[in-house]
Parts: sequence; structure tokens; C-alpha cells
Amino acid sequence: MKKYNIAILGATGAVGQEMLTVLVEQNFPINELRLLASKRSAGKKVLFNQTEYTIQEANRDAFEGMDIVLGAVENDLAEKLLPHAVLAGALVIDNSSAFRLDETVPLVVPEVNPLDIMTHKGIISNPNCATIIALVAINKLHEYAHANSLVVSTYQAVSGAGNPGIHELETQVSQVMNKEEVTSSTFPYQIAFNIIPQIGGFDENGYSSEEMKMQNEGRKILHHPDLKVTCTCVRIPVYRSHSESISISFDKEIDVAKARELLANAEGVKVMDDPNNQVYPMPLDTTNQDLVYVGRIRKDLARDDNKSLTLWCCGDQVRKGAATNAVQIAIKYIELNK
Ligand SMILES: NC(=O)c1ccc[n+]([C@@H]2O[C@H](COP(=O)([O-])OP(=O)(O)OC[C@H]3O[C@@H](n4cnc5c(N)ncnc54)[C@H](OP(=O)(O)O)[C@@H]3O)[C@@H](O)[C@H]2O)c1
Repeated sequence: MKKYNIAILGATGAVGQEMLTVLVEQNFPINELRLLASKRSAGKKVLFNQTEYTIQEANRDAFEGMDIVLGAVENDLAEKLLPHAVLAGALVIDNSSAFRLDETVPLVVPEVNPLDIMTHKGIISNPNCATIIALVAINKLHEYAHANSLVVSTYQAVSGAGNPGIHELETQVSQVMNKEEVTSSTFPYQIAFNIIPQIGGFDENGYSSEEMKMQNEGRKILHHPDLKVTCTCVRIPVYRSHSESISISFDKEIDVAKARELLANAEGVKVMDDPNNQVYPMPLDTTNQDLVYVGRIRKDLARDDNKSLTLWCCGDQVRKGAATNAVQIAIKYIELNK
């Protein structure tokens, strides 16, 4: 079996660290593994699959000889460095939003649009984490009844802002408990014992950048340019796993029983829906695994046409929303190119 030279750009971050875990779990065929991060981390040792690796400083020449580069850094760095990985002959699978809406870059959720991988010109983008979770949850319903609009509210974990987000919640909880002054740097306000209805900057219509990703990326992934989405993204003081309330309006009738049946057979989905016995997904259930859990499936009472449903879903955004999705793209790419 062919083995691949793999680099992780951002190997010390929340997503990069999880990529290491997922590569081991998936038994990914690795020949050489190169772990890249900032100057601050260069020289640090990381244990991977019982072998010790030394973190190297990322620069334009760091990708020579690599087959696949997994990007897990912010946009500015992704834009600066990843084109050099492509020039060095690697396939890049990037987690930042830098290239997602570029027409030459496929934006892929393997359960939804795997064949888009084949159109790549060197870079494949991993979608926004909340968008991946929503699309895995609704894809089979959309295939059956064609979704024409979504009303989404997200409840997003602090680790969506990487390791600094986790650190800020931990620090603030301790500051509050010790009656110390609360300091914020990653989030615009105190997140401990609070929620913040802003993720990213606002546009002229009052929507945040995170909210518009749900529409713009959703349209691209589903090949559905007319999909209408209104979204409210909220940061909540949970460490890990995003939750979402989604109301979907379809082109044809669909009832709750049909939706449950479709979702029971949907790849990447676990139905957890027995409200009378208090069974529904919560972020603690979905943390550290790869499925999107779906529950609270019910008729949308704001519409009376039998063509609308409301559901609740949770998924681990560091794994399925980032690291796992990227590794799944790499595995699919290998399968499709056999
Ligand atoms: N966290 C999530 O849930 C999530 C989900 C989907 C997508 N994403 C996206 O994934 C990317 C990574 O996010 P994250 O949450 O993992 O962030 P993070 O925990 O803050 O990690 C950032 C990584 O970037 C590296 N880095 C920073 N400055 C660098 C430089 N000058 N040169 C080389 N490396 C540098 C850091 O290395 P040092 O440790 O050396 O500073 C670290 O490895 C972002 O684009 C983010 O939007 C994140």
C-alpha cells in the first residue's frame, strides 16, 4: 500500500493536535510526518503513534517532498504559506476560510459532495465548522424533499476559537469564583457565565461573518445557489461541540416519521430523538467522536404547509467540524485516485 508524506501546518493548535489523533485512529498510511508551527513552538517534541517528532518552524520552503498538507492556521498565514505547498506539488486540505469561496477550490463535506474533490487544482477547503454540522444533519432530508430555506441558530463552543478560547473560559471561571477582575482577550466580552451573540465582524445588513458562512458555504457545497439562509451565531461557555437549532422549509411534503427514517440511514448521523424520555443530543454527548447527533425533530409550527421541519443537532466541531472532515477528505481523495 502506498504511504504518503504528510505535513500539518499548525500542528500545535486545537485543530492540528486533533488531526494527529484522527490520523492515528484512521491508521492513515503515513511515510513521513512533518509538524509545522510558529517559531515559538519550533524544537518542541510531540509524541505521535509512539514516535517522538520535533516541531519545525513553518516557512515557504517547509513543504518540499510532501504529498498532502493539512492546513490548521488562521487565514493570513494560510494565504501566505499554502500556495507554496501547492507549488511544491502537495495537495492542500485547508481549514481556514481563506480559499473557501474561491471558484477554483472545492469545498467538501465527504458525506455530501465527495466528488467535488476531483475538481481540485491543488487546494481543497474544509468548510466552516457550524456549516459542516448543519449540512451533515440536513443532507438526506434535502436529497428527499429539496430544502429551499433554513433558519438556523447556533450555540458554539469556546474551542471554536482554538486553544486561546478554552484558556479564556478556564481563566474567567477561576477569576469569577475567586472574585477577581475578569479579563477578556479572545472574546469581546466575558464568556464565563454569559453568552455572546457575535462571532466575527458584522456586515452592512447586521449579519456576522460566521452567520454568512452558513449561507454562502451551504450554497456552494449543496450546489444550490438559491438556498436562503438566515442565521444567528452565538458563543456559549461550553468547551467543545457546537449545537444548532435548524428550521428547514422544503419544496415537497415531509413528515416527522419520514425525516426520522431518512436520518436513521444517513451517513455521519446518529438519531437521538425520544423527548418523552428526555433523550436528545447535548454537547457533552457528541464531544470526542465524529457523528452529528440529531434530535427534537418536529413540525415547524410557524408554517402550516406540511413542508417544514425543525430539528436540533450537536457535533464536535474540532473533530467533524475540522480535523476529522479534513482527514476524511484525504482518505476519499486517495480512494478516488486509486
Ligand atoms: N477550533 C475549531 O473548532 C475550528 C473549527 C474549524 C476550523 N477552524 C480553523 O482552523 C484553523 C486553526 O484553528 P485552531 O482552532 O486550531 O487555532 P489555534 O488553536 O489557535 O492554533 C493555531 C495554530 O497556528 C499556529 N501558528 C500561529 N502563528 C503561526 C506562525 N506565525 N507560523 C506558523 N504557525 C503559526 C500555532 O502555532 P504555535 O502553537 O506555535 O503558536 C498553532 O499551531 C483556523 O483557521 C480556524 O479558523 C477551527
